[in-house]
Amino acid sequence: MAMDNWIRSLPKVDLHVHLEGTIEPETLLYLAEKNKVVLPWTTVEAVQQAYAFQDLADFLQIYHQCTQVLRNAEDFYYITLQYIRRSAAENTFHSDVFIDPQTHRDKGIHLEAMMDGITAALREGARQYDYSMGFILCFLRHRPQREALEILHSLGPTRAHFSAIGLAAKELGYPPHLFIDVYKTAHAMGLYCTAHAGEEGPASYVRSALFDLKVHRIDHGNAIVDDPTLIDYVRSQSIPLTMCPLSNRALHIVDDLSQHPATALLNDGVCVTINSDDPAFFGGYMTENLSAMVEHAQWSKNEIAKVLHHAIDHALMPDHRKQSLRHRLTQAL
Ligand code: HPA
Ligand code: ZN
Repeated sequence: MAMDNWIRSLPKVDLHVHLEGTIEPETLLYLAEKNKVVLPWTTVEAVQQAYAFQDLADFLQIYHQCTQVLRNAEDFYYITLQYIRRSAAENTFHSDVFIDPQTHRDKGIHLEAMMDGITAALREGARQYDYSMGFILCFLRHRPQREALEILHSLGPTRAHFSAIGLAAKELGYPPHLFIDVYKTAHAMGLYCTAHAGEEGPASYVRSALFDLKVHRIDHGNAIVDDPTLIDYVRSQSIPLTMCPLSNRALHIVDDLSQHPATALLNDGVCVTINSDDPAFFGGYMTENLSAMVEHAQWSKNEIAKVLHHAIDHALMPDHRKQSLRHRLTQAL
């Protein structure tokens, strides 16, 4: 479709992507073999068949199995560079990436080693493709707050890599307010704060993220449509929502993208952005996510232009780079 090519050609920014969610099936099998990690699948077709998820919990269980193939700094280098190459090929120039230290610490991989591999790949990506990344230190909400606090307090020099903290994984049963002390600490450390909220959880979880954790950004935020006072609040405060249409459809958060709340919220003046979440698991990167809204929710060039500008405005990126990407986007539009 002509519109897909146009979307692919535009300079784009992804504000919500989990690093492990970018491991394509071929890479997953390659790393499993290299690191002698036994997976339940041996072919790309079998992996793809396994990627039919019932809900968030079902996805997280498979996702966790996949994260087990990452064993050392080189593996992180490899997946990061692959992700950057794929992104650059669709004119995505920057991503705010969630990094989960707890997942890998369980296997004995330290955050320092992970970041060594990831930042080496980013240096290569910056040189070859003019790529940039913001890093979000992301905590698992089903794990105790104490663990997250301990990681925050023991960052040492690794602190310099991170612009932000986030909160992800199983949402229902783990409301944001369980992490008040983590967010207080992060605010005091000068970190930007975001949290997944209102993906499978209710509007009250979005409220708790906004008022208990005082987040600067909400990841997903779909449930906000159930509370008009919250919509007014995020609109008046220009708090961005990083929405992920293909993810929501794959995890049955929405039945149909024609019903995706991004459309009404964007029309209502909310700072909506469109992002990929776990692109290797949910059927696409930035282009596919944006194109899906054109195809199923009748988005025009006007909506696409708005969400791309929002993403640049709120990216974890220096102002001079925002200026330059804005200029490129305006030219391309
Ligand atoms: N939701 C919550 N946690 C996650 C996701 C998601 O879509 N992807 C990776 N961790
Ligand atoms: Zn996410």
